[in-house]
Formats: sequence, structure tokens, C-alpha cells
Amino acid sequence: MTAAGPVTASSADVLREADRRRTFAVISHPDAGKSTLTEALALHARVISEAGAVHGKAGRRGVVSDWMEMEKARGISITSAALQFAYGDAVVNLLDTPGHADFSEDTYRVLSAVDSAVMLLDAAKGLEPQTLKLFDVCRHRGIPVITFVNKWDRPGRDALALCDELVERIGLQPMPLTWPVGVAGHFRGVLDRRDGDFIRYSRTAGGATAAGEERLDPARAEAEEGPEWTRAVEEAELLAASGGDFDLARFRDATGTPVLFGSAVLNFGVRHLLDLLVELAPRPTPRPDVNARPRALDAPFSAFVFKVQTGMDPSHRDQVAFARVCSGVFERGMVVTNTTTGKPFATKYVQQVFGQQRSTLDVAYPGDVIGLVNATALRVGDTLHADRRDVRFPGLPSFAPAHFAVARPADLSRAKQFRKGIDQLESEGVVQVLRSNRRGDGSPVFAAVGPMQFEVASHRLSAEFKSPVRLDPLPYTVVQRLVDPAQRALVDGNRSEVLTRADGADLALFVDNTALGVLRRLHPEVVLEPLVAGNG
Ligand code: G4P
Repeated sequence: MTAAGPVTASSADVLREADRRRTFAVISHPDAGKSTLTEALALHARVISEAGAVHGKAGRRGVVSDWMEMEKARGISITSAALQFAYGDAVVNLLDTPGHADFSEDTYRVLSAVDSAVMLLDAAKGLEPQTLKLFDVCRHRGIPVITFVNKWDRPGRDALALCDELVERIGLQPMPLTWPVGVAGHFRGVLDRRDGDFIRYSRTAGGATAAGEERLDPARAEAEEGPEWTRAVEEAELLAASGGDFDLARFRDATGTPVLFGSAVLNFGVRHLLDLLVELAPRPTPRPDVNARPRALDAPFSAFVFKVQTGMDPSHRDQVAFARVCSGVFERGMVVTNTTTGKPFATKYVQQVFGQQRSTLDVAYPGDVIGLVNATALRVGDTLHADRRDVRFPGLPSFAPAHFAVARPADLSRAKQFRKGIDQLESEGVVQVLRSNRRGDGSPVFAAVGPMQFEVASHRLSAEFKSPVRLDPLPYTVVQRLVDPAQRALVDGNRSEVLTRADGADLALFVDNTALGVLRRLHPEVVLEPLVAGNG
């Protein structure tokens, strides 16, 4: 990974390196244990010698970035980056999704850059709202999901009931690969459903090192664990009878999910998760370009920008663009072309960034994430390449906004900077900017998936553009896409209006479902399409 100097990678090298990559993200509701699991995975792979280095809680050294004062004040991380580590022969790229309660489009965009996801559930809570939202995006994109039921060391729900919930609420067939021995709160270990053995876990001080694991054959497990083992065996048989045996095809086509039980804080089940990722998770595959032609992994370098982050380094204003490599080999110093602008982009400063830890990156292969520093010319959705012919990947989808506010400059003498700032925020995808020439003063309307996007936008307009914004919330709660712009006049009214997004989509906004119902009754000819999270 850190080979210095020019790389002369053959096609076989690139294919071999791509085949070693496992690029995934953890999707979870806040507090399910994502930071703890990330730390445990990294610990297990031994890149982080001291437990706590990623987590950053309780005074431990943190690498989870807190790049803005606002973020510090709230004690949350709004940044997304990638953690890379070697595990056996594999190279694991774990993309961070923001863990705070508010959802922004960044969270969703990260999922455009992964090949699989780990859905982390709290054993006591099961599927929670934010997990469901993220899962919707995975489903929409066909991303295979591995489910990790966490916190089994604490009292929680029944394992079979949790599995039923997956089928009933999200239509995903659970295919447990391990089954807990001992109810939640009395975690003895797991039944390995693939060979029938018992893996007994033992605690290590504070969970600071990899958990102790002992493998016992079924006869010994029964002798030593008695009824708890018998119950696990019986439940595992029930699973087999209800279609819960592992089926690789169902995992890969995202209709079924392998399930593991564990405890991130005790490192129980973490090794199993890593092994499973290495064994089963999809490797990078040729990514379709705008013409739906898959781009071969060993074609010349190409990547797409899925995230742009400003101000990660508090000491000076900088901008880092995160790009996922789709083909070829990336070498630091390479001059690549930005397809959107047609301009060259020098990659002298390229880093691997995870939180505040940065290391210079010299070479990257398909599946890897590169952080391009000082990338003020790059925008979310841009394609970068080093090919003689242009390469263009499809732009990233916009997501269904749920919050709307009119944006006006608080200081009219800074109106020019205000406009400039809004253009910048729009191009970075910090907020969606909607416009309508029927609005009296022509003020743009900010639209966001989560209200924190407004805070980030306001903060940046004041701090970077010295043009504070006044945001007046709009009461809309229901959004649909208006298919025929000619029907616009039929929608504009007291309790609804049509606003146009930069991608040309006309969004019909309604104060509530009653207002939408009224329009449908009065003008059944108006064609509206629902927007769902993930393809808004
Ligand atoms: P998040 O990133 O998903 O928001 O969750 P995080 O890892 O911060 O974990 C949330 C809380 O759940 C933490 O407790 C953490 O210690 C705890 N936790 C995570 N995994 C497990 C597990 O497997 N078992 C148990 N029992 N607890 C777990 P906290 O009280 O908020 O913080 P802390 O003071 O314990 O660090």
C-alpha cells in the first residue's frame, strides 16, 4: 500500500489488488455501537495499537474528526472518511458514515462508494429509524448487507424475534451464520452454523485486546453448557426449516443477509465479522459509466468524487475531496483529468484521511478511497481519470429533502458574497438549492435531508463568505416530483408550490398530505411521482 516511487502495475497486478479489496460502510442508528465496532475491527486488524484511538470518547485519544467548532460543541462527528487496514491477505476499506442523529446527504453519498454494508443492530432495539433509512438506500442500490446484532452481552430481545423483524419490516431473509448461546445478557458464545461447533468467548480486561475464543465440538458444548447449548441447537434447526440457511446468491442479490451475533465492546464476534467480510463481501466490480458500459477494473485510472469536505484541518482552510477509485492504479503526483471541467488536476497532495489522522498515500487501487487535498476545483459527482478517452460516471443522486427554508442575506451589503457562497455550497452538495421565479424577491430556498445541513450552510456562509444568512423555514412536509413542467401553475398555491432544483427536477412541495389530496382531487391530470430517500 505504501510502495514509493513510480508504480508500473500490470493489468494482472491491478486485478489482483482489486480482488483483495473489501470496501464497506457500517449503517446503524446512533448509539448502536458503530464507533465501538470500528475501533474493534481496526484493533483486531492491529492497525490501532491502543483501544480507544478511533472512538475518541471519555478522554481517549480520538481520530474521529471534529473539524468545526460547532461540531466540537455538539461532540459529534460530521465528517466522513475512510479507514484502511490490511487483514490477512485482504485490504479492508471502512468508510465512515456520520453517526449523529441528523441525516445529511453525505451519509447517503458514502453508500455510493461501497460494495457492501454492515447493518449494526442493538440487540435490545432491533431495527431503528436511521438504520431503516440507510437500509433503504442499500436496497435501492442493491448493496449486499451483513447484519451484526450487537450488545448481546446486555439484556435484549429474543434472537428469533430479531430475525423475524428483518423479514417482516424490511423483507430481508435473515441467514444467520452464528447463533448465540445464552440469551442476551448471558452471552456464552456462538454456535457456528456452518460446522456446528461452539465458539466460546471469554472476556479480556476492558475488551482492550482481541477476545478469547475457544472452539468446542457439539458433544463437549452440550456437556459444558447444558440447556443453553441445547436451546441454541434447537433454534438453529428452526432457522434451517424457515429458509434461514446461508445462500450466497441471496446475499449477493441483496434479498438475504448473513447475521452474526456479538458484542463490539467485548470484541465478541468481531473476528468472525472480519473473516466474513473477507470471505463473502463483494470485491470491486466494473462500474457502469454514464452510457451503462461497465468500466473494466484494469482500464486506466478512474475515480469518482463522492464527498467534499471543507475545513477538516482547523489550522487553515482547506478542502478535501474524497474519491473512490474505480479502475486502474492511482499514483500520487499523477495528473488526472476532471471530466466535468475538462481540466487537469495535479494530485501532489493526496492522503488517506480518517478523522484527524492523515497519512500520505502513494498508490491506490480499485475499491480504495483517496483524499485529495486543496481540491477546490472538485465537486461531488465529478469523475477523474487518466485515460486518453473521456470517462464519465453517472452523477450521484440527490436525495428527497425533508426540510425547507428561504435563504436571504442578513447583511445586504454582502449580497454578492452571499450569492457566491450559495453557488459554492450548492456545487459541493452541502444543501440543495431550489429556485422559482414566482417567488417575490427571487430568494433561493435551501432544501435538506437533515436540518444539520442548514447549520453547516449557515456557519460556512458567515465564516467563509462573511455573509451571514437569515433562514426562514417553510412549512412543507410532503415532496413529490412534478413530471410535466407545463402543469406547474396548477400546483402553485397557498399550501403548495413548485421549486426547481439545480439538476432540473421540479419539486412539488405541500404543507401536508391533505394539501396533496386536494390537488389530486381538483386536478387529477397533474402527474406527480414520489421521491424516496436514495433516489430523490
Ligand atoms: P455509535 O457510534 O453507534 O453512536 O455508538 P458507540 O460506539 O458510541 O456506542 C454507544 C454506547 O454503546 C457506548 O456506551 C458504548 O460503550 C456502548 N456499546 C457499544 N457496543 C457495545 C456492546 O457490544 N455492549 C455493550 N454493553 N455496550 C456497547 P456509552 O455509555 O455511550 O459510552 P461509554 O462511556 O461506554 O464509552
